[in-house]
Amino acid sequence: MDFAERAEAELGALRAKGRLRVLPGRLAPGLCELSGNDYLGVAGDDALREAFYAHLHGEARCLGATGSRLLSGDTAEAEALEAELAAAYDAEAALSFGSGYHANAGILPALAGKHALVLADRLCHASMIDGIRAAGCDFFRFRHNDLAHARQLLARHAAGREVVFVMTESVFSMDGDRADLAGLVALKRDFPQVVLYLDEAHGVGVFGETGLGCAHEAGLHREIDLLVGTCGKAWGSMGAYVICRRAVRDLLVNAMRPFIFTTALPPVNVAWTRFVLRAFPVMGARRARVRRMGCELAAAVRARGVPCVSDSPIVPWVIGADADAAAAAARLRAEGFNVRPIRPPTVPEGTARLRFSLSAAIPDAAFERLLECVRHG
Ligand SMILES: Cc1ncc(COP(=O)(O)O)c(C=O)c1O
Repeated sequence: MDFAERAEAELGALRAKGRLRVLPGRLAPGLCELSGNDYLGVAGDDALREAFYAHLHGEARCLGATGSRLLSGDTAEAEALEAELAAAYDAEAALSFGSGYHANAGILPALAGKHALVLADRLCHASMIDGIRAAGCDFFRFRHNDLAHARQLLARHAAGREVVFVMTESVFSMDGDRADLAGLVALKRDFPQVVLYLDEAHGVGVFGETGLGCAHEAGLHREIDLLVGTCGKAWGSMGAYVICRRAVRDLLVNAMRPFIFTTALPPVNVAWTRFVLRAFPVMGARRARVRRMGCELAAAVRARGVPCVSDSPIVPWVIGADADAAAAAARLRAEGFNVRPIRPPTVPEGTARLRFSLSAAIPDAAFERLLECVRHG
């Protein structure tokens, strides 16, 4: 079997299991999008985009950074974004990255020595798992959102460790439920070697009075040692950042491979991220609306007798079998809604689901129809 035949055989095995992934192509016109992460409707806001372009000048117009941050790509836009983020979070420093995947794949390997210990929520995103694997240190998962289990693991394994990273997400990407941030901070009081690593990919924009995420909303952001935000979701942009201490930022600049060995983000993209950051404080009505929609849709799922603990614009309808989830997605598509079935290995075996990802830009009438379809479909 040659190389391509081997690839064909692997594809055949995935096809046989009903798990072959194919690129979906462009959204058919007229379909209501329920699988993106444009929670505030920023990416699709033509007026906002035109206001941004109207004031674009100088370096901010550049479409390419020409090199990595440590070579030719260290633009004034990137420096300004980091200063603004650090100020917004009342933190010593911020560092920006090409994507959330880069951030999560690179931060831990740069900071965790071989003798560190990592405890991560069982449902942490694949990018965090890739970072943990690359770091190569000891690693245990605690049951989802079960800090009592995290405490047991700490009691059993933390003695003698200088550093224990405890990693979780503020809003879980596949279930839409939220971490117990106060409980996490309490862990740090009882185990001083704990370093809290919080991925706010789905929290920023949507939570917090000014859209800075769940930890900021709870007034706990200063307790989080590594607060990761991503700009490709509610931000309607691209990129990511970490909020941290100055020395930690400087070590990342020296040791984080997905920061060092990649071209910096284009200045125009960073300028848009800065523009949206300035606009976040006045998007309270969008935040309130999309969160209310999330509550209503979760209630509609529960009304079918399906447990749903979502507390965010991400609302899962767990169906179980892969084929049944695909059939439910096809039925909703026929009703005008684009929602994708999410199947293992993205979610645990037997929990194939529809994952509704809501946006404040969805018109009232479409949302009412969606509620009807979920209640009675
Ligand atoms: C929880 C979480 N972290 C990180 C990422 C990666 O972010 P990005 O899309 O910016 O690479 C995602 C995106 O899917 C995510 O859901």
